[in-house]
Amino acid sequence: MKNKILVTGGTGYIGSHTAAELQKHGYSVVIADNLCNSKKEILLQIEKITGKKPEFELIDLTSPEDTQKLFEKHNDLSGVIHFAAFKAVGESVEFPLKYYHNNLFSLVNILQAMEKYNVANIVFSSSCTVYGEPDSLPVDENAPVKPAMSPYGNTKQVSEEIISDSVGAGSLKSISLRYFNPVGAHSSGLIGELPLGVPNNLVPFITQTAIGKRDVLKVFGKDYPTPDGTCIRDYIHVEDLAEAHVIAIERMIKCNQKNDFEVFNLGTGSGNSVLEVINAFEEVTEVKLNYRFAERRPGDVPEVWADTKFANGELGWVAKKNLADMMKTAWKWEQNLAEKKIF
Ligand code: NAD
Ligand code: UD1
Repeated sequence: MKNKILVTGGTGYIGSHTAAELQKHGYSVVIADNLCNSKKEILLQIEKITGKKPEFELIDLTSPEDTQKLFEKHNDLSGVIHFAAFKAVGESVEFPLKYYHNNLFSLVNILQAMEKYNVANIVFSSSCTVYGEPDSLPVDENAPVKPAMSPYGNTKQVSEEIISDSVGAGSLKSISLRYFNPVGAHSSGLIGELPLGVPNNLVPFITQTAIGKRDVLKVFGKDYPTPDGTCIRDYIHVEDLAEAHVIAIERMIKCNQKNDFEVFNLGTGSGNSVLEVINAFEEVTEVKLNYRFAERRPGDVPEVWADTKFANGELGWVAKKNLADMMKTAWKWEQNLAEKKIF
């Protein structure tokens, strides 16, 4: 058995895929989650995929005492991958303090516990939202961090600053991974995204419309300065993301970092418009999607996609799955949920 990794938010969407990938690579995984946006049954699903159920700690990481106890109990950690956070942009505008409290307190508690219990390595879940509307495309890691467009986005920026300051002051090492648009589900169909209520993001809205949970998909805006008038994003398969996390934590464990705080973009390096995503979905599933054009959504940038050269070169990581894979797996997951094959 290789090293033991603490995965916060590990029953969530990206965390569960990463936990499975870590186990596949022989890591021992402890998941810490308060299940505010996920289900404990995900542990069994991970077991079905990997043959091993991760250890689980039900804990709210905003509690300093409980976080300390977690590290006291698991005193043989090689690193932490920190996913636990709230992530709904619109909700963060409505309830900013809820977001600052959850996302920042939990990070500070983890960093303090890491310091106390001599755990050096942390991978952090950041977002391309830190770039706002970039001055040029593709956007690389040296592009300026723009004023945040939401409290959620601001928690990502402030978190990176908190981590950077902590790295500068002590023995901490970190890799911050800036995800572009994570979509899709595990190829087994056993884990995927579980959006609570009405989804905000495009792909869950597409699959829920196709399965009949939603009447119609609204395409937000058709007059953007893009080839087909709809917004362009860099969609990345969640399994590719999971793989990058394993590589990142390994890089730290093996002391291969060039700097103690490194930042990498995680995207495919190319963008697709909303209409291209819809077309890809219809093509691979042979399901006709009911959609109509609607007003632009406030806060949407017209186009953004990643320059992935740094991640490709330094991590030796390249996103392998294409848009068709993303749509196929997202659809399989939605169908499995509908047929109650999952829970
Ligand atoms: P998710 O909601 O599916 O998973 C987050 C998990 O953290 C959930 O299981 C939730 O129960 C848990 N959690 C939240 N607050 C907690 C707390 N105080 N204590 C313990 N557990 C807590 O989200 P996700 O899509 O898997 O996102 C994971 C991370 O990636 C988040 O930090 C998110 O901001 C970031 N991110 C996500 C996306 C995306 O599109 N999904 C894009 C960029 C960045
Ligand atoms: C959003 C967040 C971003 C976060 C990311 C992942 C905003 C402004 N940004 O990114 O901070 O990191 O989710 O959680 O909320 N679309 C439709 N109809 C829909 C839903 C979406 O047309 O019903 C369009 C959007 O206008 C956008 C594209 O689809 O052009 C992707 O949207 P979405 O999946 O919400 O991701 P982002 O807005 O890129």
